[in-house]
Amino acid sequence: MGVAPPPPALRRWFRHAIALAVFVLMLYLSDRILRFLSGCRPEAQSCTPEGPLPFKAWHESGPLAAPGWKEPPCLGPQGMLGRIRRSFGASLKPEGDVELSQYLAGWRELVRFLTPLGSIFAFATSEAFIKVTALEARVLGPDAAHYTSLATMAAWERRVGLLEQPGTAPRDSAQASGSRTLLLLHRALRWSQLCLHRVATGTLGGPDAGVQCGDAYRTALAPHHPWLIRQAARLAFLALPSRDRLLELACPAAGEADARAALAGAAGTLEQVYNRTEDLLAGQGLLQLA
Ligand SMILES: *[C@@H]1O[C@H](CO)[C@@H](O)[C@H](O)[C@H]1NC(C)=O
Repeated sequence: MGVAPPPPALRRWFRHAIALAVFVLMLYLSDRILRFLSGCRPEAQSCTPEGPLPFKAWHESGPLAAPGWKEPPCLGPQGMLGRIRRSFGASLKPEGDVELSQYLAGWRELVRFLTPLGSIFAFATSEAFIKVTALEARVLGPDAAHYTSLATMAAWERRVGLLEQPGTAPRDSAQASGSRTLLLLHRALRWSQLCLHRVATGTLGGPDAGVQCGDAYRTALAPHHPWLIRQAARLAFLALPSRDRLLELACPAAGEADARAALAGAAGTLEQVYNRTEDLLAGQGLLQLA
């Protein structure tokens, strides 16, 4: 932890923390109540009252590139995972920079994809959505010429003195520098990437998605969150849908093997973008900005 924040900042922090915690708790409880009303035991890991999922076991399914294999719809032009991959992929500029408009377009697709997956995603993405909108306002605003890429943004914000002092928080998030907003999105991207990768590659009989995404949260985000949020998040991960359900939501109308491969591919693209962004932020000395 850094220096203790002054009292007004502490009060503001506390108000935010409580509001968020109550929000997460409500999402968690509403999820439980819905499960109960739909005839599922609240403690059931996987709840599919309409019958077993049409998935075969992971290793029973044939190889991905078998003759006659068709790309699942989730990777096609209208498919969510395909759209995430294309937008984020396009943000990786050949000269090693990250193009902000494509990065944000990728985030919009990611938010659309994650929101229906469960209350913890809805919580995380509502936070991310605010940041995406704030950064977009800069990318499209009067200083748009300086917000084409991560490198141009960081150089310009440093030159004109927009960067926060390390350890200080801006008065409200809409006034945060673009670099700081990007850093917060960057950490959330890491969590999404780790969580989706683990959902895609987890073994049968191994820890379920809630446990794996909770672990990813502890790695990527918890060190940056206050205690109250961490407790609320811990509860929300208990209500995460099962792996089968997540795979079905991620890649509808595909077999389990195809859904896993498609999700792993999307997580791989997120990892490329994460790695690139991490290197650039580290090179600019911006990883300590928040
Ligand atoms: C990202 O970076 C890590 C650590 O440097 C590396 O192990 C991994 O292969 C990289 N992933 C991609 C997709 O480039």
